[in-house]
Amino acid sequence: MIVIKDLWKKYGKLQVLAGMDLEINTGETLVILGRSGVGKSVLLKHIIGITKPDQGTIDVDDVRITDLSGPDLYKAVLHMGMLFQGSALFDSMNIAENTAFYLKQHGDPTTGKKYSKQEIEERVAQALEMVGLQGTQHKMPSELSGGMRKRAGLARLIVYRPQILLYDEPTTGLDPITAMQINALIVKTQQELKATSIVVTHDILSALYVGDRLALIEEGKIAYLGDPDAFMKIDDPIIEFLRKTISQDPRKFREEKLNNG
Ligand SMILES: Nc1ncnc2c1ncn2[C@@H]1O[C@H](COP(=O)(O)OP(=O)(O)OP(=O)(O)O)[C@@H](O)[C@H]1O
Ligand SMILES: [Mg+2]
Repeated sequence: MIVIKDLWKKYGKLQVLAGMDLEINTGETLVILGRSGVGKSVLLKHIIGITKPDQGTIDVDDVRITDLSGPDLYKAVLHMGMLFQGSALFDSMNIAENTAFYLKQHGDPTTGKKYSKQEIEERVAQALEMVGLQGTQHKMPSELSGGMRKRAGLARLIVYRPQILLYDEPTTGLDPITAMQINALIVKTQQELKATSIVVTHDILSALYVGDRLALIEEGKIAYLGDPDAFMKIDDPIIEFLRKTISQDPRKFREEKLNNG
């Protein structure tokens, strides 16, 4: 379980997080919505420990990561992985090396055991296939389209099989069909790993597809939080707007997909 208490963060004069409280249950997929610049990426960076709050605490499975730094922090976040907004591949490494990055660095996230070269190759091939990028091992990031880079970033995350997955805009900039495939992959990964997932998105279809609960950030705090049905009924101008943009509930596709295998 992830427990965030009274989190504050200011950049210059800009108060981004202002006393945020949030609890994320183990095994759930929580979606975070909110307007651009409201602090969604900043929140994820706090959870994975790369940004420190001005005030407040974050406990991940009873480890107070906001108190940790250096090797202690590194160890505490080994079982977490993040898909950064814009995918953030290493330009000088090919797709296979990019995908294998965490595997090579950390080994198995639960035991710390190093993987053999062959194990790494197999897992990389498997992960690339999962995101529809089979056979791209030797390509460089600059040779791929934006959507393909995003999927390679996703492969790098899921190949590592972390227990906590943070996704920053996993479907932004993708065509609707690829976006739905990514949504299905997020659900599949969550089910396979029994992982806890936090998904930041602007895409309400994606939010409804993957989310067990949906949260909206406004003015540095969680303004609303609820299961998808309750959330979509909330009387708020942003949610009202989101309601109007969807013609069909995407969970229908998800059920069809699950029923048809
Ligand atoms: N390292 C930083 N230094 C200064 N300001 C920052 C820093 N990181 C974030 N900010 C500011 O904090 C605010 C929130 O940024 P954040 O990236 O979390 O927004 P967001 O909700 O993820 O937006 P988007 O939906 O556009 O990705 C922005 O105004 C941003 O400029
Ligand atoms: Mg962002």
